[in-house]
Amino acid sequence: MLAYFNGGYLQEEDIRISPNDRGFLFADGIYDVIRVYNGHPYRLDDHLTRLSNSARELRLAPFDFSFLAAVTRRLLAENNLTGAATVYWQITRGAATTRKHAFPEPPTPLTIYGAARPLDESRLRRQQELGIAAITVSDKRWARCDIKTTALTANVMANQEAAERDADEAIFIRDGALLEGSHTNIMAVVDGELRTAPLSHSILPGITRGAVLELCRELGIAVREMPVLQHEIPRLAELMALSTTLEVTPVVNLDGQAVADGRPGPVTRQLSQALRQQITRLCT
Ligand code: PDD
Repeated sequence: MLAYFNGGYLQEEDIRISPNDRGFLFADGIYDVIRVYNGHPYRLDDHLTRLSNSARELRLAPFDFSFLAAVTRRLLAENNLTGAATVYWQITRGAATTRKHAFPEPPTPLTIYGAARPLDESRLRRQQELGIAAITVSDKRWARCDIKTTALTANVMANQEAAERDADEAIFIRDGALLEGSHTNIMAVVDGELRTAPLSHSILPGITRGAVLELCRELGIAVREMPVLQHEIPRLAELMALSTTLEVTPVVNLDGQAVADGRPGPVTRQLSQALRQQITRLCT
């Protein structure tokens, strides 16, 4: 596949990244993942705004990555991706010859990498039909989970634990609250109320979460932005995972116990369908 690298378009296998790159040495970088339907990127501007916000937080000048919209479209066109695909963007503070924690002086040029990939949707459709399993884990991440950095060790370890326990997602619990998954935001129905954690430094401001909250307003579904608490788990009527790659996917098993009757619930189905309709409207 043709990828974007520091201003040019190259075959992925021809890209060479320095071992001194601060992304490699320190995970000193940011990323974002964009979903493509029928060759059209979904909410591309929202993703690039979030990427720019992450850059501002980590002081990765020049902060504004809106120019990557045109590059994203060109990547799709050059690779003839006219169906389902994803585009991955990563930006690091670049390669400095001396390894020191503080920013290089003078500043090194950023490393900017983008790659597009075709996506097989059959697994997702199966997961949406049947639901997925999740586990809960204690949140060992840092205090700025709102920044989409590539420093994902805690997410990797949590998701691996899920895989080893035959689950697809790990949900982080901090101070007794279920915040989000290792790569998804979560929503739940408890005591007849749709709930999700409010935006804070403890969760990623998911594009899918934002889109679903908008849909809830349009559909007249009330949402309380308060996380599900650990002691409420036995009372969960529905649980769902939300992300660019999972859309709205039911979570039907948590820590080996069925969520309610172990089948996708009506609110989850309604939101999943509403999101798919919006995607079809925006991406045809
Ligand atoms: N994950 N929370 C975390 C920790 C995430 O990593 C993600 C996205 C989300 C959902 O955000 P969005 O709706 O914008 O995709 C929530 C991406 C897809 C990933 O790491 O691959």
